[in-house]
Amino acid sequence: MRIISSVVEMQEYVLAAREHGRSIAFVPTMGFLHQGHMSLLNAGRQNCDLLVLSIFVNPIQFGQGEDFDSYPRDLSRDAKLAETTGVDIIFAPTAEQMYPQGYATTIHIDKLTENLCGATRPSHFDGVTTVVTKLFNIVQPQLAYFGMKDFQQLAVIQQMVRDLNMPIDIVGMPIVREADGLAMSSRNNYLTPELRQQGLALVDSIRSVIAQAKNGERTAAELIEIVRQRITQEVDAKIDYIQICHDQTLQDMTTIDEHAVLLLAVRFGATRLIDNHYLLKAL
Ligand code: PAJ
Repeated sequence: MRIISSVVEMQEYVLAAREHGRSIAFVPTMGFLHQGHMSLLNAGRQNCDLLVLSIFVNPIQFGQGEDFDSYPRDLSRDAKLAETTGVDIIFAPTAEQMYPQGYATTIHIDKLTENLCGATRPSHFDGVTTVVTKLFNIVQPQLAYFGMKDFQQLAVIQQMVRDLNMPIDIVGMPIVREADGLAMSSRNNYLTPELRQQGLALVDSIRSVIAQAKNGERTAAELIEIVRQRITQEVDAKIDYIQICHDQTLQDMTTIDEHAVLLLAVRFGATRLIDNHYLLKAL
């Protein structure tokens, strides 16, 4: 396994690999790997000759006052984990490599970015789509893997690839959860045991809503109210949003059908957790 931090070196490497007819699968991350990331790497490993993992805490997708400085970083830990899944290359550029002096380009996707996380984190998705475009141009994969944990991010990337005719297949992978149901996230490391316990209200409320939907409740407002009541039982919970949206348009639904996805973002202390689930599928 090689670790490459230079953009030019990475591009030369993939150019040579492609000239030799080698297929490339790519998993972009911000590091501090967990089993969610590993599931993407394992899937990628089975479908390519060359598996590339990027680790880059992308400054332009963090808003003012967000956790860019405290975001967990440990490249040597990540490298050990990556090696166990058969990663060939870790691309770990510096911010100066990615955004040199004079950098001036932003990729912006309309509509899908306006609701949900886009409403509470303005410019977040511009940061994501800009860095992912740059990473795609540098790594030139045929396949790229993203988690459904970040449901909106996956939808936005799929839209971008379609709109900009990027010759890349985007593969969406299921959410990997801890044994007690909490969705895995690098940010879970911020939680005290007390806050982590409170965070289980997310998965708990998802379970209740799925049960109600199974019982025939189809009114989104009623289902959202079940979630709100469960989450507000937790003393440190501050709700960013609880919404039920169509899986493709990400527009709010009033009556649910098989396209309905419940999406949640809740702060527990300073830690913001997100989760989501289709409502007419079992957890
Ligand atoms: P990061 O949060 O490190 O996540 C990297 C990838 O892992 C994303 O596609 C995310 O959806 C997926 N992932 C995270 N937790 C997961 C879980 N519990 N189960 C399944 N997949 C999971 O998302 C980003 O980084 C950044 O925004 C990035 C796309 C790298 C651009 O900077």
